Amino acid sequence: MSQISIVYFSQFKGATEKLAEAIQRGASQVPGTRAALIKVEEVSKNWAELNDSDAIIFGSPTYMGSVAAGFKAFVEDLAGEIWLERRWLNKIASGFTVSAGRSGDKMNTLQQMVVFAAQMGMIWVPMRITGGHYSTQGSENDLNRLAGYLGVMAQANIDQPPELAPPTSDIETAELHGNHIANVTRQYKEGRKQLPAEYDAFLGEVDGEGKKPLGLKDLMK
Ligand SMILES: Cc1cc2nc3c(=O)[nH]c(=O)nc-3n(C[C@H](O)[C@H](O)[C@H](O)COP(=O)(O)O)c2cc1C
Repeated sequence: MSQISIVYFSQFKGATEKLAEAIQRGASQVPGTRAALIKVEEVSKNWAELNDSDAIIFGSPTYMGSVAAGFKAFVEDLAGEIWLERRWLNKIASGFTVSAGRSGDKMNTLQQMVVFAAQMGMIWVPMRITGGHYSTQGSENDLNRLAGYLGVMAQANIDQPPELAPPTSDIETAELHGNHIANVTRQYKEGRKQLPAEYDAFLGEVDGEGKKPLGLKDLMK
């Protein structure tokens, strides 16, 4: 089985959560895939699950042109043992975000996630499809209507509930991306079995069976 964790923060309207669920649905369609949703607030109970994952997908709304503070707090918890000892090296990574504005500066959110993944030595998977709504022939119903490439970019009207916003096109875009990541993860995992690197035996090993990883302060004592 490939194990995929979708780690997300969603606070204002639950829009990011809708996307997380769509990514999970898309990923679960790929045979041999187990996709789990993990809210950042519940990460403390799920370190073992995360450390065992073949892929970790980051989800955060765009708040003030950036990842939300709640999501950043999760990333900062990685700065000790997991980062320093390269625990997540070569795991697959990707991300998704939503904002109220069509732009809303959410490119910055995805770029931040790419940098977080790079700091962990993870392998970032971008979108599979080209952008939609490029011309008069297109519409807001197009998949990838906001034409993002780094990861899923969605938009949710600020006065609508999560049942309506983000719209179906964004939800389906997220499903497709989840499916794509699961396919890439499966191929990568199988390939890695055939062609293991010398250091693979070390990867994913974490002491203490899921306890909170040591932070920088603990390591620097
Ligand atoms: C504190 C805060 C800051 C926000 N900043 C932005 C922003 O910079 N750009 C934007 O387009 N929308 C912004 N929004 C709107 C949210 O991105 C949007 O409502 C999103 O769907 C919320 O996702 P959530 O329901 O998962 O929290 C902001 C909302 C909040 C609460």
